[in-house]
Amino acid sequence: MLVRLKVFRFDPEKDGDPYYQDYEVQAEPTDRLLDCLNRIRWEQDPTLAFRMSCGHGVCGSDGMRINGVCGLACQKLVESFGLEVRVEPLPVFPVIKDLVVDLEPFFQRYHSIKPYLIALSSPPGHERRQSPEDIRPLEDAIRCILCACCTSSCPVSQDPQTADYVGPAALVRAFRYLFDSRDESTSERIAMLDRQDRVWGCRTLWKCTEVCPKEIPVTKLIGHIKRRIYETKRESNEGEIRHAPKDEAGNGSWGEDSEG
Ligand code: SF4
Ligand code: SF4
Ligand code: FES
Repeated sequence: MLVRLKVFRFDPEKDGDPYYQDYEVQAEPTDRLLDCLNRIRWEQDPTLAFRMSCGHGVCGSDGMRINGVCGLACQKLVESFGLEVRVEPLPVFPVIKDLVVDLEPFFQRYHSIKPYLIALSSPPGHERRQSPEDIRPLEDAIRCILCACCTSSCPVSQDPQTADYVGPAALVRAFRYLFDSRDESTSERIAMLDRQDRVWGCRTLWKCTEVCPKEIPVTKLIGHIKRRIYETKRESNEGEIRHAPKDEAGNGSWGEDSEG
């Protein structure tokens, strides 16, 4: 089949404004969008810039907006798009060139939630072990490949008024350490997350969960963080308990009662 791709182009060194360039590629219905982009770069236009590495949904580097929805080009089959595909860079982040965005702000926010185990006790003389039961609640979060599709799809992250929101990908990683049985900094993590620009910035709009290529129930994990903070503060009776904000439908925003 002949696939038409309308691709966002922008080279800040020579283009005043972004524009769209059309390409045509012969493809099998079961080819991936990434195959088409590679074919363009190899056979038609070596100036087209995009990131890729593994080609198999593992490295997270080929996140882009495909017909308006963020996803990995290596996971999208040509047959699912019809005859024309619009390909754009991930929103939220500055464009470096064409489909390549600057993920520095993404990783700054990711590092801000301390994405590593903090163990305050003396080393036990062997690795800090976990039972299968301990690791089970973390299994969803561990699948995250930091592709940034969730954060760039999140309406809160997209809104310039709330651009300091840490974003769903960082919160997935925060969940992973907050609920890790080996981590010994729970109080510090709760204080770190209990902020409007962190977990309370999430308005439970589910876009992150809809696009995650690893099928991580992102909104639900964020809801678990909210509940953990709420319950910890209630138990310790410290200060005023922040009430869960409402989502646009007026529901509480734990994000746990719906599918996801
Ligand atoms: S949670 Fe999903 S969409 Fe977000 S960065 Fe991780 S893998 Fe990508
Ligand atoms: S559920 Fe929260 S983090 Fe996810 S897209 Fe909606 S507002 Fe953003
Ligand atoms: S190229 Fe690695 S996830 Fe798509």
